[in-house]
Amino acid sequence: MQENYIELVKKINNGKILTYSILTFGCQLNENDSEKIAGMLEEMGYVKIDDYKKADLVVFNTCCVRENAEEKLFGKIGEIKKIKEKRDVCLAIGGCMMQEEKMLKKMKESYPFVNVIFGTHTLQNLPENIYKAISKNQKVKDVIDIDGEIYEDLPIKRNSNFKASVTIMYGCNNFCTYCIVPYVRGRERSRNPEKILEEIKNLANDGYKEITLLGQNVNSYKGNEKIRNFADLLNEVCKIDGIEKVDFISPHPKDFTDDVIDVIANNKKISRIIHLPLQSGNTKVLKEMNRKYTKEQFLELAEKMKSKIDGLVLSTDIIVGFPGETDEEFEDTLDVVRKVNFEQIFMFIYSKRDGTVAAKREDQVPENIKHKRFDKLKELYESKVDENNEKYIGTVQELLIESLSRYNDNTYEGRTKTNKVVIIEKSKDYKIGDVVTVKITENHKWYLKGEIL
Ligand code: 5AD
Ligand code: SF4
Repeated sequence: MQENYIELVKKINNGKILTYSILTFGCQLNENDSEKIAGMLEEMGYVKIDDYKKADLVVFNTCCVRENAEEKLFGKIGEIKKIKEKRDVCLAIGGCMMQEEKMLKKMKESYPFVNVIFGTHTLQNLPENIYKAISKNQKVKDVIDIDGEIYEDLPIKRNSNFKASVTIMYGCNNFCTYCIVPYVRGRERSRNPEKILEEIKNLANDGYKEITLLGQNVNSYKGNEKIRNFADLLNEVCKIDGIEKVDFISPHPKDFTDDVIDVIANNKKISRIIHLPLQSGNTKVLKEMNRKYTKEQFLELAEKMKSKIDGLVLSTDIIVGFPGETDEEFEDTLDVVRKVNFEQIFMFIYSKRDGTVAAKREDQVPENIKHKRFDKLKELYESKVDENNEKYIGTVQELLIESLSRYNDNTYEGRTKTNKVVIIEKSKDYKIGDVVTVKITENHKWYLKGEIL
C-alpha cells in the first residue's frame, strides 16, 4: 500500500529534484530508524543533502532519554519556522519524543506549522503521511500508543558501505525507574531470527564487514525453536562468511548468561569491548533503580567475563545524582569504576523524566551536587585513560580502517576489536573498509598510533 503513496508523491513532485535532510538525536536505534526513513524518502525521489537549512523536506528524529534534548529540538524547529516564512519546506518530526503526551500537546499549541508528526510505531507510514501533507496540505499526526507490529523489508539507505546496524528487537520490559524508554518504545518484540540472518547475509554479499546488533536489551532476545535466544543468534551471525566483526548494544547485566559468554569466548569475530551498563555501583541505589543486580553481582560478572573472554575490555553507562543518592553511595560507584577499570565510560547526570517512578521522588539531588559528582567521576575516568592506553603499546592488533583521520588528511583512522581509535599512515596498498594488522607504537590519550605489519 505504501508503494502507491511512493508513486503518488513522485507524481506530485513531477520530476523535480527535491532534497531531504534528516537530523537524528539519540541512540543507535534512532540512527537505524533514520536509515530506514532515508530509504523511504529516496524511493520517493528525494535526494539527500547535509545542510538541513537548504532542504525541501526536513525530518527531525527525536530522543527523549534526557531533558536537554527538548531545548535543542525547539531551537531547530524555530530555525525551520523562519525558513518556512520564505519558501516551502515540509517539516516532519518523529521518534521517541513524539510518543510523549505532553510533547504532542506542546507541538499542537506552539508549533502548528509542523507538517507531519509520527511516532516510533508508525515509521513505515511515512510515504502516506508525506503524501497527505504535500498534496492536501493536511497536518498529519500519526502516533499510536500500542506496540506496533514489526515491519520487515522497509527500504534502507545506509550511512556506511562496510559497517551496518541491524535491529534485532524493539522496546523494553525492564522499567528502570529513571528511564522513559519503555513508555515510548513499548514492550519487547523480537524480530524473526531467519529474517535477521537473511538481512546480514545480504549485507555480507554487498561487501559489509562489520555488523552491530541493536536492541534496548539485546540479551533478552527471544527467537524460535531453532535459534532460541541471543547466544544462538550471535553464534549464527558469526558463521556468515564475509562478516569480520560483530558487535552488539546494549545488553543488560542481569541477562548476561553463561551461554552468551561462551559464544563470545569461542568467536574471534565478536568485538572485544562489551558494553555493560552499570548505572550505579551502590546496591541500595541499584534496587531503587530496579536494575535487579547488586554491586557484588556486577563485580562478579565483570570478573567472570574478563577471565573467560580473551582480551576483553568493558565499557559502561553511569548515572550520577539519582534521587536520594548520598555521597557515600556515590563512593560505591567510584569503587566499582576503580575495580573494573572500564575502557570507556558514558557518564550522565540524572535527568528527571515525567511519567517515570524516580521523577515522583521528593529527594531529588540538587544540581550543584550532581555536577560535583559528575566532575569527580570524570576525573577518575580520565586518570585511567593513559594507564589503559599504555597496555596497547607494542601489541599487534587487527584494525578496520573506517575513514580518513580527523586529525590529519595523510592518515587513516581505524578501530581495534576493543574500539580504540588508531591512526596509521595512508598508502595505496589499503583503503577504507579494509582490515589490516598493525603494531601499536604511540599513545596520544584519545587515540593511538600504529604501523602496518
Ligand atoms: N537521566 C540520565 N541518564 C539516563 N539514561 C537513561 N535515562 C536517563 C535519565 N533519566 C542513561 C542510562 C542509559 C543511557 C542510554 O542513558 O545510563 O544506559
Ligand atoms: Fe531504559 Fe532500563 Fe530499558 Fe535500558 S533496560 S532502555 S535503561 S528501562
